[in-house]
Amino acid sequence: MTGQVPDFSIHELHLPESMDGPDGKDFRELSSVMDAMVLETWGNLERASSAQARLAGWRDTPYEVSRNFFARVDGIIVGHASCSVPLKDNVHTAWIHVDVLEGCRRQGIGTALLRTVEGIAAAQGRHVLQAHTEHPIGFARARARAGAEGVPGGVPDDGPGAAFCLKHGYTLEQASRFSTLDMDHNAEWARLELAAHSKADAEYGVLAWTNRCPGEYVDHMAGLMGRMSTDTPAGGLEIEAEAWDAARVRQLEDTTLAEGQTALVAAAQHRRTGELVAYTVIYLDPAKAGVAEQDDTLVAKPHRGHGLGMLVKLANLRRLQTEYPAVGRVMTFNAEENEHMLSINVQLGFKPAGYDGEWQKRIK
Ligand SMILES: CC(C)(COP(=O)(O)OP(=O)(O)OC[C@H]1O[C@@H](n2cnc3c(N)ncnc32)[C@H](O)[C@@H]1OP(=O)(O)O)[C@@H](O)C(=O)NCCC(=O)NCCS
Repeated sequence: MTGQVPDFSIHELHLPESMDGPDGKDFRELSSVMDAMVLETWGNLERASSAQARLAGWRDTPYEVSRNFFARVDGIIVGHASCSVPLKDNVHTAWIHVDVLEGCRRQGIGTALLRTVEGIAAAQGRHVLQAHTEHPIGFARARARAGAEGVPGGVPDDGPGAAFCLKHGYTLEQASRFSTLDMDHNAEWARLELAAHSKADAEYGVLAWTNRCPGEYVDHMAGLMGRMSTDTPAGGLEIEAEAWDAARVRQLEDTTLAEGQTALVAAAQHRRTGELVAYTVIYLDPAKAGVAEQDDTLVAKPHRGHGLGMLVKLANLRRLQTEYPAVGRVMTFNAEENEHMLSINVQLGFKPAGYDGEWQKRIK
C-alpha cells in the first residue's frame, strides 16, 4: 500500500423520494462524484448516467434490488460501491461495482467498499459475484490478457481495475468492445439497406415504436428479451435464462420513462406467422443531448442468416437520424467473440473506443 491510511468512513445511501428535496443531499453529492469518476476515466460524460436515471434505476423493482454505499474522507464523498441482485432468476448472482476517485486510491478504500458489498451479496445467499472494469482505447494498447488465457480480446492487466480484481480473486471471463459511431459516417448505409431488404423482404417486415410496445406484441417481445440471456455469447460468465413475461417488459418501459430516457425500438416480423423474430433498441437521454446508446439487438435463432440484424439496426438508425438530428454519436457494447454482431456494427461504421472486462468470483 502506498500513501497514508486515510480516516475514511463507509455509509449506506438512502434513496431520496426526489432528487431536489432535503433528503437528496447525499444522493446529489454521490451522483456528482460518479460523474467526476466517469470524466477521469473517459474524458467525457457520454458513458455517465444522468442523476435522474441513477435515482430511478437504483429503485427496487420486483425483478432486482440494489444497495449503494459511499466512502467519505474529511466529510467528502470519494468512493462508491453497489450490489444489485436479480430476484426472479440468476438467484445465486450479485452484480457489484466499486469506484474510487483517482486522488484517493491505493489507500484501502476500494478494498473496504468491496468487502462491504461482498458481505451484502453473501448475506443474500449470492455466491457468483460479477463485476466489470473499463479500459479506454488509449490505455488498451497492450491488449494483454488479464489473468485469463483464451478470453477473446482480453483487457490490459496493468490498469487499477484489473489489478484490483485479480488481487481480490476475480477472473476475467469476457471482454466487451465499446464502440462509437459518428452519425455522419453513413455513406455505406444505402448499399447495406438494399442488401438487407433484398435478403429479407419476401419473408419479413419491419415494425417500429417509441417507448411502449403495442399490446399485441408484448408477449412476443418478452420471448425475445428472455433470449438475450441465453442466445448471446457470455464467455465464462455464469448466466441462467432470465424469466421474462409481459409484466417485466412493461416494468422495464416504466423504469426507462422514470429515468427520463426514450427507447426507440425496431422489430422484424415474420410475415407468415405474424411472430416478432428480431428486435433492436436505441436509448436517448435528453440530459445527454448529442449521444445515444445502441442497446440490445437479437435475432431469434431459427431466423438467423436472413440479414435481420442489419435490417432492424438500420431501420432504427434511420429513425434516429430523422427524428433526432441533433444526435451525432451512438455508443454500443459487444462481446469480443460476438463476431456476427461486431461485423454488422463495423459495416455500419462503429469504431472501437475501448474495452470492458467482465469479471467473476465464486464465494462458496
Ligand atoms: C479499482 C479501484 C476501485 C481500487 O480502489 P483503491 O481504493 O485504490 O483500492 P485499494 O487501495 O483497496 O487497493 C487494493 C489492492 O488492489 C491492487 N491495486 C489497486 N490499484 C492498483 C494499481 N493501480 N496498480 C496495481 N495494483 C493495484 C493492489 O494490490 C492494492 O493493494 P496495495 O495497495 O496494498 O498494493 C479504483 O482503482 C477504481 O475506482 N478504479 C476504477 C473502477 C474499477 O475498475 N473498479 C473495479 C471493478 S469493481
